[in-house]
Amino acid sequence: MVKHLLSIDDLNEQQIISLFHDAKDPRTQDSSNRHYTPILATLFFEPSTRTRLSFEAAILRLGGAFISASDMATMSCSKGESLEDTIRVVSGYADIIAVRHPEAGAIHDVARNSEVPVVNAGDGSGEHPTQALCDLYALWNRHGKDLRDVKVVIFGDIRFSRAAHSFAQGLKIMGADPTYLHWNEELKLDNPVDAVYITRPQLERHHNMHLNSTHYNQQAHDLVYHENAKDALIMHPLPRTGEISKKLDNDPRSIYFEQAKAGVPIRMSVMSMLLCEFLNKRV
Ligand code: CP
Repeated sequence: MVKHLLSIDDLNEQQIISLFHDAKDPRTQDSSNRHYTPILATLFFEPSTRTRLSFEAAILRLGGAFISASDMATMSCSKGESLEDTIRVVSGYADIIAVRHPEAGAIHDVARNSEVPVVNAGDGSGEHPTQALCDLYALWNRHGKDLRDVKVVIFGDIRFSRAAHSFAQGLKIMGADPTYLHWNEELKLDNPVDAVYITRPQLERHHNMHLNSTHYNQQAHDLVYHENAKDALIMHPLPRTGEISKKLDNDPRSIYFEQAKAGVPIRMSVMSMLLCEFLNKRV
């Protein structure tokens, strides 16, 4: 009998061999089984509320489970382990990985080093594709389920906003042609628009740049209340930091909490798609 395992000397040779015989890779053993529990790993090298928690809620809703690293100070990367090694190891524990990383493009290294599907949960000022899906879904629901030629103005700290980049790209895929309005540009809206998409200043990405937040917030306010935006849906990927007043929360045009709420169903769809493909290939 082994009561505790405190030293390798607590085991004899026979017990060690017996452990080896019992050890099986659960993925190769069980992934054809209907009761297989898929595991999501959330690796967040930057803060998050919506993305990480909705990914985790989504996998639970799908009948799966998650393992999570959100405080990188407690991970071995703080001892010098490379991102490549971290991913290689974690992809041996999970069936799918959602990664947020401060460096734009780092997600491609992550995918190259993973045995399992990877979802970009935001890479620096690069992309945030599942946020874009939430945004498109909320807009699609409120704009009559057809996004071709929908008129959208994307406002804010455009260069550094990954949510803006993916949303704009997503709109193009859906047949629309959004316009950008940088926070420091003159506010000009020549024609009525269907939606305004406000983003926050990405101060964590350009610490040294002077950004006049009073002017920024005023521009956002003026856009939302512009004559040509009076019927426009008001969107924001959140978190907000002053560019959208709480007074707008009860405005029927505001759909930013609908965007956030879409996080669970959309990420359920995304993970179902990727897991089906991945697990079917294994059997
Ligand atoms: N919109 C978004 O990505 O929010 P979090 O940073 O809270 O995940």
